[in-house]
Amino acid sequence: MNPAIGALYRLLYNGVLCRLPEPAAVALGQTALRLLPWDRLSAFRLDDPRLAVTLGGARLPNPLILAAMYYDPRILRRVMGLGFGAVTTKSITVEPRPGHPQPNLVRVRSAAGPGLVNCNGFQNPGLERFRAAIIGLPHRVPLIVSVAGESVDDYVRLVTRLGPLGDLVEFNISSPNTRLVYEWSRKPRELVALLRAVRAATDKPLIVKLSPDFTDANESEIIPAALEAGIRIVNYGNARRVEERRLSQGAGGLSGPELFPATLETLRRARARFGRGLEIIATGGVDSPEKARQLLREGATAVGYFTGFITRGPILAREILELLLAER
Ligand SMILES: Cc1cc2nc3c(=O)[nH]c(=O)nc-3n(C[C@H](O)[C@H](O)[C@H](O)COP(=O)(O)O)c2cc1C
Repeated sequence: MNPAIGALYRLLYNGVLCRLPEPAAVALGQTALRLLPWDRLSAFRLDDPRLAVTLGGARLPNPLILAAMYYDPRILRRVMGLGFGAVTTKSITVEPRPGHPQPNLVRVRSAAGPGLVNCNGFQNPGLERFRAAIIGLPHRVPLIVSVAGESVDDYVRLVTRLGPLGDLVEFNISSPNTRLVYEWSRKPRELVALLRAVRAATDKPLIVKLSPDFTDANESEIIPAALEAGIRIVNYGNARRVEERRLSQGAGGLSGPELFPATLETLRRARARFGRGLEIIATGGVDSPEKARQLLREGATAVGYFTGFITRGPILAREILELLLAER
Protein backbone atom coordinates (compact mmCIF):
# COMPACT_ATOMS: atom_id res chain seq x y z
CA MET A 1 0.00 0.00 0.00
CA ASN A 2 1.14 3.49 -0.73
CA PRO A 3 1.34 5.33 2.63
CA ALA A 4 0.92 8.61 0.73
CA ILE A 5 -2.81 7.89 0.27
CA GLY A 6 -3.41 7.86 4.03
CA ALA A 7 -1.32 10.98 4.55
CA LEU A 8 -3.11 12.78 1.71
CA TYR A 9 -6.51 11.93 3.12
CA ARG A 10 -5.52 13.21 6.57
CA LEU A 11 -4.43 16.48 4.96
CA LEU A 12 -7.78 16.69 3.17
CA TYR A 13 -9.70 15.88 6.34
CA ASN A 14 -7.83 18.26 8.65
CA GLY A 15 -7.18 20.98 6.07
CA VAL A 16 -10.49 21.09 4.19
CA LEU A 17 -13.31 18.89 5.55
CA CYS A 18 -12.75 19.93 9.18
CA ARG A 19 -12.81 23.60 8.27
CA LEU A 20 -16.13 23.48 6.44
CA PRO A 21 -19.40 23.70 8.35
CA GLU A 22 -20.54 20.12 9.02
CA PRO A 23 -23.46 20.07 6.52
CA ALA A 24 -21.16 21.30 3.74
CA ALA A 25 -18.50 18.71 4.63
CA VAL A 26 -21.12 15.92 4.62
CA ALA A 27 -22.50 17.09 1.25
CA LEU A 28 -19.01 17.29 -0.25
CA GLY A 29 -17.96 13.88 1.09
CA GLN A 30 -21.14 12.14 -0.08
CA THR A 31 -21.00 13.78 -3.51
CA ALA A 32 -17.40 12.61 -3.91
CA LEU A 33 -18.42 9.10 -2.84
CA ARG A 34 -21.33 9.06 -5.29
CA LEU A 35 -19.61 10.49 -8.32
CA LEU A 36 -16.01 9.30 -8.30
CA PRO A 37 -15.24 5.68 -9.24
CA TRP A 38 -13.35 4.83 -6.02
CA ASP A 39 -14.62 1.28 -6.17
CA ARG A 40 -12.68 0.62 -9.37
CA LEU A 41 -9.35 1.42 -7.73
CA SER A 42 -7.66 -1.64 -6.32
CA ALA A 43 -5.59 0.58 -3.95
CA PHE A 44 -8.41 0.52 -1.38
CA ARG A 45 -8.88 -3.25 -1.24
CA LEU A 46 -6.94 -6.31 -0.29
CA ASP A 47 -8.38 -9.54 -1.59
CA ASP A 48 -6.94 -12.62 0.03
CA PRO A 49 -8.82 -15.79 0.93
CA ARG A 50 -6.94 -15.99 4.24
CA LEU A 51 -8.91 -12.96 5.46
CA ALA A 52 -12.35 -14.56 4.97
CA VAL A 53 -14.69 -15.13 7.93
CA THR A 54 -18.23 -16.40 8.34
CA LEU A 55 -20.93 -14.42 10.07
CA GLY A 56 -24.22 -16.16 10.73
CA GLY A 57 -23.21 -18.68 8.09
CA ALA A 58 -22.62 -15.98 5.45
CA ARG A 59 -19.13 -15.76 4.01
CA LEU A 60 -17.47 -12.35 4.30
CA PRO A 61 -14.25 -11.84 2.32
CA ASN A 62 -12.77 -10.19 5.42
CA PRO A 63 -13.96 -9.26 8.94
CA LEU A 64 -14.44 -5.48 8.38
CA ILE A 65 -17.95 -4.09 8.24
CA LEU A 66 -19.00 -0.58 7.32
CA ALA A 67 -21.44 0.33 10.10
CA ALA A 68 -24.93 1.70 9.40
CA MET A 69 -25.03 5.18 7.89
CA TYR A 70 -25.70 5.23 4.11
CA TYR A 71 -28.93 4.46 2.26
CA ASP A 72 -28.23 5.93 -1.20
CA PRO A 73 -27.67 2.93 -3.52
CA ARG A 74 -24.99 4.82 -5.46
CA ILE A 75 -23.00 5.20 -2.26
CA LEU A 76 -23.68 1.64 -1.13
CA ARG A 77 -22.39 0.39 -4.46
CA ARG A 78 -19.18 2.41 -4.16
CA VAL A 79 -18.43 1.47 -0.55
CA MET A 80 -18.83 -2.21 -1.41
CA GLY A 81 -15.63 -1.81 -3.42
CA LEU A 82 -13.67 -0.04 -0.69
CA GLY A 83 -12.19 -3.00 1.13
CA PHE A 84 -15.02 -3.94 3.50
CA GLY A 85 -16.08 -7.55 4.02
CA ALA A 86 -19.70 -6.38 4.34
CA VAL A 87 -21.61 -3.11 4.19
CA THR A 88 -24.54 -2.12 6.41
CA THR A 89 -27.35 0.15 5.22
CA LYS A 90 -28.73 3.08 7.19
CA SER A 91 -31.52 1.97 9.50
CA ILE A 92 -34.68 2.06 7.42
CA THR A 93 -38.07 2.92 8.93
CA VAL A 94 -41.54 2.07 7.60
CA GLU A 95 -42.35 5.66 6.69
CA PRO A 96 -39.91 8.15 5.13
CA ARG A 97 -38.22 10.39 7.68
CA PRO A 98 -36.66 13.80 7.04
CA GLY A 99 -34.41 13.36 10.08
CA HIS A 100 -33.95 15.92 12.82
CA PRO A 101 -33.38 19.54 11.77
CA GLN A 102 -29.89 21.00 11.45
CA PRO A 103 -27.59 21.10 13.28
CA ASN A 104 -27.72 17.31 13.52
CA LEU A 105 -24.03 16.48 13.31
CA VAL A 106 -21.05 18.08 15.02
CA ARG A 107 -17.39 17.22 15.26
CA VAL A 108 -15.75 16.63 18.62
CA ARG A 109 -12.10 16.21 19.46
CA SER A 110 -10.81 14.53 22.60
CA ALA A 111 -7.42 13.22 23.67
CA ALA A 112 -8.44 9.96 21.98
CA GLY A 113 -8.81 11.69 18.59
CA PRO A 114 -11.53 13.09 16.33
CA GLY A 115 -15.11 11.92 16.73
CA LEU A 116 -18.69 12.92 15.92
CA VAL A 117 -21.94 13.51 17.74
CA ASN A 118 -25.07 13.10 15.67
CA CYS A 119 -28.81 13.37 16.13
CA ASN A 120 -29.56 12.29 12.58
CA GLY A 121 -32.98 10.93 13.56
CA PHE A 122 -33.04 8.22 10.86
CA GLN A 123 -33.21 10.37 7.78
CA ASN A 124 -34.23 7.80 5.14
CA PRO A 125 -36.64 7.36 2.22
CA GLY A 126 -38.86 4.83 4.01
CA LEU A 127 -39.40 1.13 3.40
CA GLU A 128 -40.96 1.01 -0.05
CA ARG A 129 -38.80 3.63 -1.75
CA PHE A 130 -35.66 2.15 -0.27
CA ARG A 131 -36.71 -1.33 -1.33
CA ALA A 132 -37.27 -0.21 -4.92
CA ALA A 133 -33.90 1.60 -4.91
CA ILE A 134 -31.79 -1.35 -3.79
CA ILE A 135 -33.57 -4.16 -5.54
CA GLY A 136 -31.02 -4.26 -8.39
CA LEU A 137 -27.97 -3.42 -6.27
CA PRO A 138 -25.20 -5.92 -7.00
CA HIS A 139 -23.79 -7.47 -3.84
CA ARG A 140 -20.10 -7.28 -4.45
CA VAL A 141 -19.77 -8.07 -0.76
CA PRO A 142 -22.59 -9.10 1.59
CA LEU A 143 -25.18 -6.42 2.30
CA ILE A 144 -26.51 -6.07 5.83
CA VAL A 145 -29.92 -4.44 5.78
CA SER A 146 -30.57 -2.40 8.92
CA VAL A 147 -34.07 -1.63 10.15
CA ALA A 148 -35.55 0.44 12.98
CA GLY A 149 -39.15 0.45 14.17
CA GLU A 150 -41.40 1.76 16.86
CA SER A 151 -43.49 -1.38 17.30
CA VAL A 152 -43.20 -5.12 16.85
CA ASP A 153 -45.37 -4.81 13.74
CA ASP A 154 -43.01 -2.22 12.23
CA TYR A 155 -40.02 -4.52 12.65
CA VAL A 156 -41.86 -7.53 11.28
CA ARG A 157 -42.96 -5.58 8.22
CA LEU A 158 -39.49 -4.17 7.63
CA VAL A 159 -37.76 -7.51 8.04
CA THR A 160 -40.30 -9.32 5.87
CA ARG A 161 -39.97 -6.80 3.01
CA LEU A 162 -36.25 -6.04 3.21
CA GLY A 163 -34.88 -9.36 4.46
CA PRO A 164 -34.95 -10.95 0.99
CA LEU A 165 -32.76 -8.10 -0.33
CA GLY A 166 -30.02 -8.45 2.28
CA ASP A 167 -27.52 -11.20 3.02
CA LEU A 168 -28.00 -10.50 6.71
CA VAL A 169 -30.50 -8.34 8.59
CA GLU A 170 -29.61 -6.06 11.48
CA PHE A 171 -32.28 -4.69 13.71
CA ASN A 172 -31.46 -1.58 15.55
CA ILE A 173 -32.88 -1.23 19.06
CA SER A 174 -30.25 1.19 20.23
CA SER A 175 -29.96 4.51 18.35
CA PRO A 176 -29.95 7.23 20.97
CA ASN A 177 -31.55 9.86 18.72
CA THR A 178 -35.11 8.71 18.55
CA ARG A 179 -36.74 7.91 21.83
CA LEU A 180 -38.84 5.04 20.62
CA VAL A 181 -35.93 3.02 19.29
CA TYR A 182 -33.63 3.76 22.23
CA GLU A 183 -36.38 2.84 24.69
CA TRP A 184 -36.46 -0.81 23.56
CA SER A 185 -33.47 -1.55 25.77
CA ARG A 186 -35.45 -0.33 28.77
CA LYS A 187 -38.36 -2.69 28.09
CA PRO A 188 -36.92 -6.22 28.25
CA ARG A 189 -40.33 -7.89 28.36
CA GLU A 190 -41.58 -6.26 25.16
CA LEU A 191 -38.18 -6.90 23.68
CA VAL A 192 -38.58 -10.66 24.10
CA ALA A 193 -41.74 -10.53 21.97
CA LEU A 194 -39.88 -8.41 19.42
CA LEU A 195 -36.91 -10.78 19.21
CA ARG A 196 -39.19 -13.77 18.67
CA ALA A 197 -41.37 -12.03 16.09
CA VAL A 198 -38.39 -10.80 14.09
CA ARG A 199 -36.79 -14.24 14.18
CA ALA A 200 -39.97 -15.74 12.78
CA ALA A 201 -40.15 -13.11 10.00
CA THR A 202 -37.00 -14.09 8.10
CA ASP A 203 -34.68 -16.98 7.37
CA LYS A 204 -31.73 -14.61 7.00
CA PRO A 205 -29.05 -14.42 9.70
CA LEU A 206 -30.15 -11.79 12.20
CA ILE A 207 -28.04 -9.29 14.10
CA VAL A 208 -29.34 -7.30 17.05
CA LYS A 209 -27.56 -3.96 17.45
CA LEU A 210 -27.09 -3.03 21.08
CA SER A 211 -26.43 0.21 22.90
CA PRO A 212 -23.25 0.80 24.92
CA ASP A 213 -25.48 2.67 27.38
CA PHE A 214 -27.25 -0.43 28.70
CA THR A 215 -24.40 -2.86 29.39
CA ASP A 216 -26.08 -4.52 32.38
CA ALA A 217 -29.43 -5.06 30.64
CA ASN A 218 -27.62 -6.24 27.51
CA GLU A 219 -25.73 -8.91 29.40
CA SER A 220 -28.31 -10.02 31.91
CA GLU A 221 -31.47 -9.86 29.81
CA ILE A 222 -31.16 -8.87 26.17
CA ILE A 223 -28.40 -11.19 24.91
CA PRO A 224 -29.81 -14.23 26.75
CA ALA A 225 -33.27 -13.44 25.29
CA ALA A 226 -31.79 -13.07 21.80
CA LEU A 227 -30.01 -16.44 22.07
CA GLU A 228 -33.18 -18.01 23.35
CA ALA A 229 -35.08 -16.63 20.36
CA GLY A 230 -32.46 -18.09 18.00
CA ILE A 231 -30.59 -14.82 17.26
CA ARG A 232 -26.90 -15.54 17.50
CA ILE A 233 -25.22 -12.30 16.40
CA VAL A 234 -24.95 -9.07 18.33
CA ASN A 235 -23.47 -5.82 17.15
CA TYR A 236 -21.93 -4.17 20.15
CA GLY A 237 -22.72 -1.40 19.41
CA ASN A 238 -24.26 1.87 18.62
CA ALA A 239 -23.31 5.45 19.48
CA ARG A 240 -23.37 6.52 23.15
CA ARG A 241 -25.92 9.09 24.24
CA VAL A 242 -24.37 12.41 25.32
CA GLU A 243 -25.62 15.94 25.93
CA GLU A 244 -24.53 18.25 23.13
CA ARG A 245 -25.90 21.78 23.16
CA ARG A 246 -24.84 22.53 19.60
CA LEU A 247 -27.31 19.95 18.24
CA SER A 248 -30.95 20.74 17.49
CA GLN A 249 -32.05 18.05 19.97
CA GLY A 250 -29.63 19.14 22.72
CA ALA A 251 -28.24 15.58 22.79
CA GLY A 252 -27.00 12.96 20.36
CA GLY A 253 -24.93 9.85 19.82
CA LEU A 254 -21.19 10.04 20.35
CA SER A 255 -19.11 7.99 17.94
CA GLY A 256 -15.38 7.65 17.37
CA PRO A 257 -12.32 6.75 19.43
CA GLU A 258 -13.71 7.78 22.82
CA LEU A 259 -15.92 4.69 22.57
CA PHE A 260 -13.08 2.26 22.06
CA PRO A 261 -12.19 1.34 25.68
CA ALA A 262 -15.85 0.46 26.36
CA THR A 263 -16.12 -1.49 23.10
CA LEU A 264 -13.12 -3.58 24.13
CA GLU A 265 -14.42 -4.11 27.64
CA THR A 266 -17.94 -5.14 26.59
CA LEU A 267 -16.50 -7.50 23.99
CA ARG A 268 -14.29 -9.19 26.59
CA ARG A 269 -17.17 -9.55 29.01
CA ALA A 270 -19.62 -10.86 26.44
CA ARG A 271 -17.09 -13.34 25.09
CA ALA A 272 -16.31 -14.63 28.58
CA ARG A 273 -19.96 -14.87 29.54
CA PHE A 274 -21.53 -16.29 26.39
CA GLY A 275 -18.66 -18.22 24.81
CA ARG A 276 -18.44 -19.03 21.14
CA GLY A 277 -22.18 -19.61 20.75
CA LEU A 278 -22.51 -15.86 20.32
CA GLU A 279 -21.09 -14.09 17.30
CA ILE A 280 -20.02 -10.54 18.06
CA ILE A 281 -19.54 -7.60 15.72
CA ALA A 282 -17.42 -5.20 17.76
CA THR A 283 -18.28 -1.63 16.75
CA GLY A 284 -17.36 1.65 18.39
CA GLY A 285 -14.22 3.71 18.07
CA VAL A 286 -12.14 1.72 15.60
CA ASP A 287 -9.92 4.17 13.74
CA SER A 288 -6.60 2.35 13.44
CA PRO A 289 -5.31 -1.05 12.35
CA GLU A 290 -4.14 -1.83 15.89
CA LYS A 291 -7.59 -1.31 17.39
CA ALA A 292 -9.22 -3.62 14.85
CA ARG A 293 -6.58 -6.26 15.48
CA GLN A 294 -7.06 -5.99 19.23
CA LEU A 295 -10.81 -6.59 18.96
CA LEU A 296 -10.32 -9.59 16.70
CA ARG A 297 -7.74 -11.03 19.08
CA GLU A 298 -10.18 -10.63 21.94
CA GLY A 299 -12.68 -12.77 20.08
CA ALA A 300 -14.71 -10.43 17.86
CA THR A 301 -16.15 -12.31 14.91
CA ALA A 302 -16.03 -9.10 12.86
CA VAL A 303 -15.25 -5.42 13.44
CA GLY A 304 -17.53 -2.54 12.42
CA TYR A 305 -16.77 1.14 12.09
CA PHE A 306 -18.15 4.30 10.61
CA THR A 307 -16.43 7.36 12.12
CA GLY A 308 -12.99 5.98 11.25
CA PHE A 309 -14.10 5.83 7.62
CA ILE A 310 -14.65 9.60 7.76
CA THR A 311 -11.71 10.67 9.90
CA ARG A 312 -9.09 8.26 8.50
CA GLY A 313 -10.57 7.87 5.05
CA PRO A 314 -11.43 4.93 2.83
CA ILE A 315 -7.83 3.70 2.97
CA LEU A 316 -8.29 2.59 6.60
CA ALA A 317 -9.82 -0.75 5.54
CA ARG A 318 -6.79 -1.64 3.47
CA GLU A 319 -4.42 -0.53 6.24
CA ILE A 320 -6.21 -2.83 8.68
CA LEU A 321 -6.27 -5.75 6.27
CA GLU A 322 -2.55 -5.43 5.62
CA LEU A 323 -1.85 -5.67 9.33
CA LEU A 324 -4.12 -8.70 9.70
CA LEU A 325 -2.55 -10.43 6.76
CA ALA A 326 0.99 -9.76 7.93
CA GLU A 327 0.16 -11.81 11.01
CA ARG A 328 -1.36 -14.79 9.27
C1 LIG B 1 -24.24 10.32 11.20
C2 LIG B 1 -24.42 8.95 11.75
C3 LIG B 1 -25.56 8.22 11.40
C4 LIG B 1 -25.76 6.94 11.92
N1 LIG B 1 -26.88 6.24 11.57
C5 LIG B 1 -27.08 5.00 12.09
C6 LIG B 1 -28.23 4.23 11.74
O1 LIG B 1 -29.06 4.62 10.94
N2 LIG B 1 -28.38 3.03 12.33
C7 LIG B 1 -27.48 2.50 13.22
O2 LIG B 1 -27.65 1.39 13.70
N3 LIG B 1 -26.37 3.19 13.53
C8 LIG B 1 -26.15 4.42 13.00
N4 LIG B 1 -25.03 5.10 13.34
C9 LIG B 1 -24.08 4.50 14.31
C10 LIG B 1 -22.92 3.79 13.61
O3 LIG B 1 -23.38 2.78 12.74
C11 LIG B 1 -21.95 3.17 14.66
O4 LIG B 1 -22.61 2.14 15.36
C12 LIG B 1 -21.45 4.19 15.66
O5 LIG B 1 -21.11 5.38 14.99
C13 LIG B 1 -20.22 3.68 16.46
O6 LIG B 1 -19.17 3.30 15.60
P1 LIG B 1 -17.95 4.28 15.20
O7 LIG B 1 -17.35 4.79 16.46
O8 LIG B 1 -17.03 3.44 14.39
O9 LIG B 1 -18.56 5.38 14.37
C14 LIG B 1 -24.79 6.38 12.80
C15 LIG B 1 -23.63 7.10 13.13
C16 LIG B 1 -23.43 8.36 12.61
C17 LIG B 1 -22.16 9.11 12.98
